[in-house]
Amino acid sequence: MAGLRLQLASIRKIGARLIENRQFAASTAKMMIARVAHQVHMPAPDRAGKIGQVSIRITDHCNLRCHTCGQWGDNGYLHNVPIKELSAREIPTERYIELLTDLHKHGHRPGLYLWGGEPMLYKGSVDLFEAAAKLGMPGSIATNGSRVAENAERLVEAPLFLLQASIDGPTAEVHNACRPGAGLRSDNFAVVNRGLDEIRRVREERGRKLPIVAALCTINNLNYDRLVETYDNFRDKVDMFVFYLAWWIDDESADQHTEDFKHRFGFEPTLHKGWVGGWLPPDFKVLSDQLNEVAKRGLKGSEPAVFIVPPFTEPADLERYYTDHSSLFGFKKCVSIYRMVEIDSNGDMSPCRDYHDYVVGNVKDHTITELWNNAMYSKFRGSLKTDGLMPVCTRCCGLMGN
Ligand SMILES: C[S@@+](CC[C@H](N)C(=O)[O-])C[C@H]1O[C@@H](n2cnc3c(N)ncnc32)[C@H](O)[C@@H]1O
Ligand code: SF4
Ligand code: SF4
Repeated sequence: MAGLRLQLASIRKIGARLIENRQFAASTAKMMIARVAHQVHMPAPDRAGKIGQVSIRITDHCNLRCHTCGQWGDNGYLHNVPIKELSAREIPTERYIELLTDLHKHGHRPGLYLWGGEPMLYKGSVDLFEAAAKLGMPGSIATNGSRVAENAERLVEAPLFLLQASIDGPTAEVHNACRPGAGLRSDNFAVVNRGLDEIRRVREERGRKLPIVAALCTINNLNYDRLVETYDNFRDKVDMFVFYLAWWIDDESADQHTEDFKHRFGFEPTLHKGWVGGWLPPDFKVLSDQLNEVAKRGLKGSEPAVFIVPPFTEPADLERYYTDHSSLFGFKKCVSIYRMVEIDSNGDMSPCRDYHDYVVGNVKDHTITELWNNAMYSKFRGSLKTDGLMPVCTRCCGLMGN
């Protein structure tokens, strides 16, 4: 598959920066090996090995309202939750540091990935990266660029391993239309540019290779024909681009998921409804041409590498991806639930990347190591092993992403 070849070439390209942190390089390699090995043999549901990534949705708060977002987007599940409640749910930074220290004591060296909401709006995010780095756990973040410029020195010094800045268009007009503010006055395009400039300035001034800086571009109906321009306009500011075919669900699959989940686990899930979207790209040939062109540019000499996730570039594959929610493209088993944990802003730990309805326990009361192979976690893994994937799995980064 052309997309897969592109991914391997892109990994080779950023290799020099990757080996700056052997732990992260090893963890990425293990994840890739596990993806292949688990297709042949899944471990026992209560015997998952070392944790490869701790992913924390560290805050619900966000200053943007991006259309495609499952939380604050057009159908996002956080609308109407009182702001005070969002703050009250959050877990103190000290508790997270205790949890990381406990993981270290038990021989785990996971990557620490922070997202949200907007993770830079959580006060202790940079403290956490500093603590994680001291424990040999490489940090990464997906951010809309808020407070990145102000924290550039600490992020470079920590060091943060991977900074992924969301960039959805080549110009302020397109980007801000995809990523409007929560209030009236917002220019996130300017904010994210300032953050990237400042990180690069500090990195160069101090002769550092980290953090690797990636542009995360989520493809939608407003930007699907502007990807090449986005690449060209940001090629001097980032080390790599990730073009995301948006995760999405249709009404029919959402209903199927509700029934399937109730049957498996005895209660009704709700969070998947946030991913029902009307922002799918309208012309697959145009999208295909754009993706093939950015892929070509990404292979050239010192130009930023390109990753397309999931790795489809042909019009027929793209059409199937966006119109047939049930098609699996050969991805049959979820490896993520044996390699990663997902912690919600209130401390609930879930096996699932984007759909957190199933909770195995709360990290206020238990350590991650206590929950990792507990009865609830094993029950979930067992269900996937015997009953196969759930309807939402077909468009989840746990199955087809990273
Ligand atoms: C949910 S955000 C959280 C972190 C931060 N607030 C940000 O926007 O980068 C993480 C990434 O998911 C992307 N995203 C939003 N909606 C998506 C969708 N439907 N499918 C895939 N990625 C999506 C965002 O653009 C962003 O790059
Ligand atoms: S900035 Fe991130 S969390 Fe906020 S609305 Fe946009 S995608 Fe969602
Ligand atoms: S693919 Fe399915 S089981 Fe795996 S993380 Fe996603 S929703 Fe959960």
